[in-house]
Amino acid sequence: MIKLADLKQEEKLRLLAGSGCWQTDDLGGKIPAVRFADGPLGVRKVTEGRDGTQSPLPAVAYPSEQVLANTWDLLLAGRMGACLADDCIEADVDVLLAPGVNIKRSAYCGRNFEYFSEDPFLTGVMAGAYIAGLQEHGVGACIKHFCANNLEFDRMHQSSDVDERTLREIYYRPFEIACTAQPVAVMCAYNRVNGVYAAEYKKGYEVLRTEFGFDGAIVSDWGAVRDRTDSARAGLDLEMPFSSEHFQKLEQDAAVGKLSVRQIDACAGRILSLAARCSGMKQRRQVCTQVSERIAVSRQIAAEGAVLLKNDGILPLQKGCSLSVCGCYAKPDSPAMMQGRGAAEVNAKDWKFDLPQALHSRTGGEVLYEGAFHYDGVDSACQNIHTAKVNAALSEVNIVCVGTGGKYEYEAGDRQTLRLPAVQEFAIRETAAVNPRTVVVIFAGAAIDTSAWEDCACAILFAGFNGSGGDEAVADLLTGILSPCGKLTETFVREASSPPVPRTAGVTRYAEGLDVGYRYFQRHPEGVCYPFGHGLGYAHFDYGNLSLECRGDLQLDVSYDIGNSSTFAGKEISQVYVRPVAPFVYRPEQELKGFSKDEIAAGKSVRVCIKLDRMAFSYWSAANDAWTVDDGVYEIRVGASSADIRLCGRVRICGGKLAPCP
Ligand code: BGC
Repeated sequence: MIKLADLKQEEKLRLLAGSGCWQTDDLGGKIPAVRFADGPLGVRKVTEGRDGTQSPLPAVAYPSEQVLANTWDLLLAGRMGACLADDCIEADVDVLLAPGVNIKRSAYCGRNFEYFSEDPFLTGVMAGAYIAGLQEHGVGACIKHFCANNLEFDRMHQSSDVDERTLREIYYRPFEIACTAQPVAVMCAYNRVNGVYAAEYKKGYEVLRTEFGFDGAIVSDWGAVRDRTDSARAGLDLEMPFSSEHFQKLEQDAAVGKLSVRQIDACAGRILSLAARCSGMKQRRQVCTQVSERIAVSRQIAAEGAVLLKNDGILPLQKGCSLSVCGCYAKPDSPAMMQGRGAAEVNAKDWKFDLPQALHSRTGGEVLYEGAFHYDGVDSACQNIHTAKVNAALSEVNIVCVGTGGKYEYEAGDRQTLRLPAVQEFAIRETAAVNPRTVVVIFAGAAIDTSAWEDCACAILFAGFNGSGGDEAVADLLTGILSPCGKLTETFVREASSPPVPRTAGVTRYAEGLDVGYRYFQRHPEGVCYPFGHGLGYAHFDYGNLSLECRGDLQLDVSYDIGNSSTFAGKEISQVYVRPVAPFVYRPEQELKGFSKDEIAAGKSVRVCIKLDRMAFSYWSAANDAWTVDDGVYEIRVGASSADIRLCGRVRICGGKLAPCP
């Protein structure tokens, strides 16, 4: 591989700009080009037709990052990464522009379906597993969007006004954890951070490189660079896509010394390393799965990431029971209804989605299907609700399939409402009025305010944008072949409760500080439909026998039993939250610091052990400019959700050492 010293100045500069839309410059064949394609829910490799039109190649459509997060399953995140690597290898892609690790600061953000969670720890560890799965199979990950990119509103200009402690604890933290998996690249965001364009965010880049151990390349979001010279001086290595105007200016500025040789070498050197690293990874590439196996993984994620929000006992459905299935989301005519729109939209390969058929094949009973409303329909398009009502009246159980899709959730814009389209809420209410045995299944990419119709539903299953095999997964869950086990990774809030993050043009003040998601809503429970960490199943789990074992250097083993006292086998996601009892600085009420997902057979129990370390007790001290642990008492809470704490114990930190509390 060529070294920096072998390159002329002009060649080095060419490395700082892409070649076309989707790859780095190969310097006329001197070095390998690095080819990019979008993720995170599938590979979106765009090809350009003769007329210049860009179209994505067909690829496996996986569940959204939201559904993946709802599995709380690091193994599944790794398997999804590995499957995506195979898709990339087949499409000749070196680096997948994924995963997105931005925090869901507001339920309105149009891209929440592309992000994992409102919690930084959960986001970071899920992303780390996804990156490892991808990179172990020879494909690079580019985590995005650095940083404080949490709304789409005015995204090219707005400045996220956020204090250092909040950045460290909430917005940097997922990047910090994800960087331990050594992603080959980080993508900067469009927005400004405290007034500075993310493409010129030198201070943040230094944190990435010197504190988080990031040794890859920093790539611009597509079109995020305002001034290439300023961004290169800040340490942004690669501008994408190629811009001839920016490149000319870069050459002129370099010629007059506005960009030093040292600065050019730093960026060019990192692009050379990226090319070398990707070509090294290419050597050990090997496609390990067939498309059908990838779809099976997608289906498993869909099954384990669906969240049963409510169930009065109507589910699972009985064998042979007659069903009315209403709502076009049960049998969508296009995958666009089951995905968000924008860079993450996948041209779904081998797409089929037929929930009525999947249900019929399991129950054996009659299934009457009526689309009832159209995806593109307005309220006047609800004439078929009448048929849906007749079907519901004739059936033992009424299943209403509702959702959003790319028309409502998309890049470059935020959601206007957290509620379902009016025609869908109407369909729920009208059909439930003739058959109260109503189950609602939601196909959406973000939190939905269920409060307007919730009392009409005996059960609610949040299936999410659940990808290929999603129909089979939902049918398995509704009929009890599998017990639901997913849990929410974002709070489902009521729209009417004043949202904690209002939008303003120009500057978005992160005035709520650390109080994002459940950190805010645990003090305002009246605004919550379903809390962070919530999810039901058919199995019943009891928690007991908490033991807290202090080890050296702020290491704590949190152990407890979980017993399954039901007749269903199931998986339980248990969560460990830490609450500083009398802190010296403001701390959220409790914060997630560990979790475990355990498969427990009917009538059996398991002993779970979660290891906490120094970070579980730390906060970013504005006074010390460092992570700090204060002496004091800490409550260790083990819960089935953030609002359903089952076990509690206390430890003490004294002189920097952990000790049990009497
Ligand atoms: C998005 C990125 C994406 C890029 C390339 C941008 O608009 O913000 O997430 O990777 O386009 O398609």
